[in-house]
Amino acid sequence: MDHNQSFADYEASALLAIAGALSAGDLEEVRIEYLGKKQGRLKDLQAVLGQVPPDQRPAVGMKFNAIKDRVTSAWESRKEQLAKPKQSESWIDVTLPGSRREIGSRHPLSQTIGEFKGIMARFGFDVEEGPEVEDEWHNFVALNIPDDHPARNPLDNFYLSVASSTNPEARLLRSQTSTVQIRTMEHRPPPVRIVSVGRVYRPDPVDATHHLMFHQMEGLMIGPDVTMSSLKTVLRLFAASYLGEGTVVRFRPSFFPFTEPSVEFDARRGTGWLELGGAGMVDPNVLRACGYDPEQVSGFAFGLGIARFCMMRHGITDIRHFYDNELRFLKQF
Ligand code: DAH
Repeated sequence: MDHNQSFADYEASALLAIAGALSAGDLEEVRIEYLGKKQGRLKDLQAVLGQVPPDQRPAVGMKFNAIKDRVTSAWESRKEQLAKPKQSESWIDVTLPGSRREIGSRHPLSQTIGEFKGIMARFGFDVEEGPEVEDEWHNFVALNIPDDHPARNPLDNFYLSVASSTNPEARLLRSQTSTVQIRTMEHRPPPVRIVSVGRVYRPDPVDATHHLMFHQMEGLMIGPDVTMSSLKTVLRLFAASYLGEGTVVRFRPSFFPFTEPSVEFDARRGTGWLELGGAGMVDPNVLRACGYDPEQVSGFAFGLGIARFCMMRHGITDIRHFYDNELRFLKQF
């Protein structure tokens, strides 16, 4: 066999064995096998050297020595490496703060919605859902909002198709959750006690208290003798449950096409009144539109701005914070 080949094989497998030694014990075995003086691979290599013709021997001998030196020094540096205390190789300071993974939390509005539903469930109200894309019947007509009412102005709504008094196909993003009152009465006979929570859309200029999209909770209670005082009691108890016992509620006469009489109601905690929503006794026209008999049943309805409540409780001054997805804001809840 060619001595060059033997030399190359020896060196390659010696270096591999050295690198693969994981302990001083391993390394000692490698030394005996590859560098042992009495027997082993180095001895075999020396025998190869012995067969080289005498005139080539000095040159091949130098090569032999060079390989032996390289393997020896690789062995020594591996020995040093293995002798070093472990932590100097990849030292971990366990007292340093780790890289923290952010944990998400429920959005403050979702938390508020959950609480609202919980409070109303204790008052015996079921939860109803309605679509965000509505037709004009549910958003306006059945709610006693006539064709020429300013709320129906196409510029004050997000219409998805052309609106006209003769187009029953017209669709819009609902501008109020009152739509769900209609949908509920259409599929449930009285008595009903429901709330519905969801997004509504209006192309209003965005500022600290208005957004293009916001959340409302609609309430509806219909039965044989539901009165205005039932309405006031429910709203007062609701406000106290969410905002705290010291909350004062006030009702102001107002107008909505779908209620008669109508009120707006405000709450005060500490100083300053905050307008929280509208309410009233369901207009007989609305009951009739849904197939209820106003001679048999009466009821109240209300619509609350959900963000307003949450803002009042937490002292948030700008509704836009809810939609910015700014962690510094969201983490406070
Ligand atoms: N839909 C009204 C709004 O968006 C709020 C409202 C007022 C709802 C009176 C009602 C109600 O159910 O009876 O401004």
